[in-house]
Amino acid sequence: MVLTDKCGRPLLNLRISITQRCNLRCDYCHKEGEEITSCSRGTTEEMTVEEIIRITRIAISLGIARVKLTGGEPLMRKDLCEIVKGIAAIPGLKDLSMTTNGTILGFQARELRICGLRRVNISLPTLNAETYTKLTKGKIENVLEGVKAAVEAGFYPVKLNMVILNGVNVDSVSEMMDFARQTGTILQMIELDPVNVDNAYFSVYHKFLDAHEEMLNQKALKVETRRFMQNRLIFHLPKVTVEVVHPIENGEFCAHCTRLRVTSEGKLKTCLMRNDNLVDVLAPMRQGASDEELKALFIDANHLREPYNKRRQGTSNQQLPREGNASSTDFEFNVLR
Ligand code: 5AD
Ligand code: SF4
Repeated sequence: MVLTDKCGRPLLNLRISITQRCNLRCDYCHKEGEEITSCSRGTTEEMTVEEIIRITRIAISLGIARVKLTGGEPLMRKDLCEIVKGIAAIPGLKDLSMTTNGTILGFQARELRICGLRRVNISLPTLNAETYTKLTKGKIENVLEGVKAAVEAGFYPVKLNMVILNGVNVDSVSEMMDFARQTGTILQMIELDPVNVDNAYFSVYHKFLDAHEEMLNQKALKVETRRFMQNRLIFHLPKVTVEVVHPIENGEFCAHCTRLRVTSEGKLKTCLMRNDNLVDVLAPMRQGASDEELKALFIDANHLREPYNKRRQGTSNQQLPREGNASSTDFEFNVLR
């Protein structure tokens, strides 16, 4: 069984923020679109291991088979391995991954892999040590160590999340591609989201990724879209793969969104961009709600899902030449050329 929303979008992915705490302070951090509350200052309780596992079990019973742990920085939680182990053991789970800044991953990568985590996305906006520190307040050696440990631990694939910032790393893409090639990782270029960043920052640093896509299109041996990952473009270049995520005003992205989020405070969040229709599951759970009652809350939240950016009639935001039509096929991947 898979739930679909009123626009026919299947609900396949759960993205759970297990903490708002983070050891870095990235200038561009969208904080997963959460309203910043007392939780971020560590003054309210986070969900317990048992609560996270129960919420995930309910989600999986409704056909949501792919789970991503996020934060803040998930590794700030001392009980992360317990969370991973508990989720990994739920029948029906097809994928368990984590988004991390990688700076404290080196110590725990192997253990997390053994506990059942399958893959990781590591935030790496630049390879320049000084720029990295300026952007994140962290040390690049730590994240490079994390990347190495993740690959060695057998996470596959390891993706490098590179948020593109105008005037900062726009020209560093080929260097990052070389690094991805050397380390056997996938480069994921991400357009800056306006969520939780102020207008002045956004107007200075936002850069559309069209020129990068054009460059990748020229160099690629094969280009495809990933239907259940917002129809993002995937470029296969010699010995390296680059994915491009550009959600801004992108109806194509929203039309193919299959996600539901759980905030660090245990609320179902239908969209990165919205906080006006959250559905609290944690409070009812703490008040003794049954599994059936919790399932009903998931179904309510699924009904509230809708594309934030509407697709423009007869057009696509993906401007590259295409030989196929992704929405006309049932395959998860659609090869364009
Ligand atoms: N825009 C786009 N991506 C962002 N990330 C964090 N903030 C933003 C933003 N404003 C990315 C990080 C991290 C992932 C959770 O989201 O690179 O890898
Ligand atoms: Fe935000 Fe991630 Fe940076 Fe932490 S590492 S500040 S969660 S973008």
